[in-house]
Amino acid sequence: MEIIRTIRDLDEKLANARLNKEKIGLVPTMGALHAGHASLVRRSIEENNITIVSDFVNPTQFNDKNDLLHYPRTFESDCSLLEKLGANYVFYPSVSEMYPEPDTRAFNYPPVDTVMEGAQRPGHFNGVCQIVSKLFYAIKPDKAYFGEKDFQQIAVIKVMVNDLKIPVQICSCPIVREPDGLALSSRNALLSEEERHLAVHISKTLFASQDYAKSHTVAETQKYVVNTINKYNGLKVQYYEIVDGDNLLSVNDWNESKSIVGCITVFCGKTPVRLIDNIRYK
Ligand code: PAF
Repeated sequence: MEIIRTIRDLDEKLANARLNKEKIGLVPTMGALHAGHASLVRRSIEENNITIVSDFVNPTQFNDKNDLLHYPRTFESDCSLLEKLGANYVFYPSVSEMYPEPDTRAFNYPPVDTVMEGAQRPGHFNGVCQIVSKLFYAIKPDKAYFGEKDFQQIAVIKVMVNDLKIPVQICSCPIVREPDGLALSSRNALLSEEERHLAVHISKTLFASQDYAKSHTVAETQKYVVNTINKYNGLKVQYYEIVDGDNLLSVNDWNESKSIVGCITVFCGKTPVRLIDNIRYK
């Protein structure tokens, strides 16, 4: 496995692969890799000739400087994991490589980028679109792999790719969970032992709500999830929205759409750590 730091080196390395029409898979990450990322890398290796993992903590998608400062960075262990998995390249650029000039592009894709995370983290999806479009233009992958834990991110990226006519297939991959149900996230590394125990009630409540939903309305189910989680001292729901799985607008009735997903953000612990998760009802 090779570590590549510049777009020029990347171009040189990929020139032959492109000539030979080899399939290129990209797994965009911000590092701090875990088993969720590993599942994306495995799938890319299965489906492509070459797998590139980008490892770049993208400053433009952080609307909170403290969050950026504390984001876990574990490049050496990331590389060991990727080597074991059999990735071909890690793209590990500097901030000035990706942003030689400030990126002034504005992406606006309402409603998918304005609801939920879009409302709570202004500018977040704009930054995600900036970096992901740069990666797509630089690497020109045939397929790119994203985890469904960031359900809204996938929806935004799909709209962007369609808008910019970028010829890449977006592959969304199921959430990977700890044995007790907690969705894997790089942010879990920031949880104390006590917070880690508390955090499990997020997924537990979401799973229980699938049953609850069978005999209750959307509004009742939403209330059930929020009230159940908020009962735990140290957990505070920021939002729980039950939405149409395509346009991400809130639904009022279980018959309103063929695809219905509940998306949650919870503050956990004193710091606090902001955790997200989601569950499919239909
Ligand atoms: O999901 C992430 O880790 C990031 O938002 C992404 C897609 C790598 C862009 O920085």
